[in-house]
Amino acid sequence: MGRLVAGLADESGFELLGVVSRHHPGGAAMDGSGQDGWYPGLEALPTVPDVLIDFTLPAGLAAAARWCADHGVALVSGTTGLEANQSAALDQAAERIPVLHAPNFSPGVNATLALLRAAVRMLPEVSATHITDVHHVHKKDAPSGTALALAAALAPHQPEIDSRREGEVVGDHRVLLELPGETLALEHHAIDRAIFARGALLAGRWLAGRPAGRYTALDWIAGEDA
Ligand SMILES: NC(=O)c1ccc[n+]([C@@H]2O[C@H](COP(=O)([O-])OP(=O)(O)OC[C@H]3O[C@@H](n4cnc5c(N)ncnc54)[C@H](OP(=O)(O)O)[C@@H]3O)[C@@H](O)[C@H]2O)c1
Repeated sequence: MGRLVAGLADESGFELLGVVSRHHPGGAAMDGSGQDGWYPGLEALPTVPDVLIDFTLPAGLAAAARWCADHGVALVSGTTGLEANQSAALDQAAERIPVLHAPNFSPGVNATLALLRAAVRMLPEVSATHITDVHHVHKKDAPSGTALALAAALAPHQPEIDSRREGEVVGDHRVLLELPGETLALEHHAIDRAIFARGALLAGRWLAGRPAGRYTALDWIAGEDA
């Protein structure tokens, strides 16, 4: 994801100040001088950016949140699988900087979240809800962060979540609502991972310069307070 974000930064109107990763993708040792624009840690960046876009693992995100808060950098993160203390690190950072964390930056998924909220409001007779999430076998967390967000959008219903890991599937989600005598299904299929990177970049443009606080993808996409 980091490489996709870096690759799309220019066409999204960003000046890319650096890519941070503990390892260089080519296997070269990193000494902090920024070969190919890659740096081994945030503190090695030559300039403090307006926005940091994070797709790492939860420990990386918690550390990035503290660094962003200390340096006044707006934080967009798509990292999933956060524990309570890692989510608390985002809350703490949001007291000082704008933070937008979303488990899925695809516009289609975020529209699905909005549609589900509306469906739950319109259909009080829903008796059961189910979510299926299918992802590639390399994905570390299950259920997916998107499945958990879909479940939250169905509140107060508590859906069963069936998580499957198959081949190289980018990300498929299916939500089923059962009603007396009928069912309603919504499906989303991610075909190209670039949608997440492009969405995160668009969210970054929207977030930069906003007041400190926690923001969601719905705030960005629909101007809605979630
Ligand atoms: N929200 C969305 O739309 C969306 C879309 C796709 C993926 N994701 C999520 O984004 C995250 C990354 O996905 P990915 O597919 O890019 O995973 P990946 O290929 O495993 O990349 C993870 C990156 O994080 C770096 N990293 C890991 N731990 C770190 C730490 N403690 N400090 C600094 N850097 C660290 C790794 O590099 P080094 O080991 O070299 O540091 C690597 O570059 C996952 O949580 C995934 O579920 C979200």
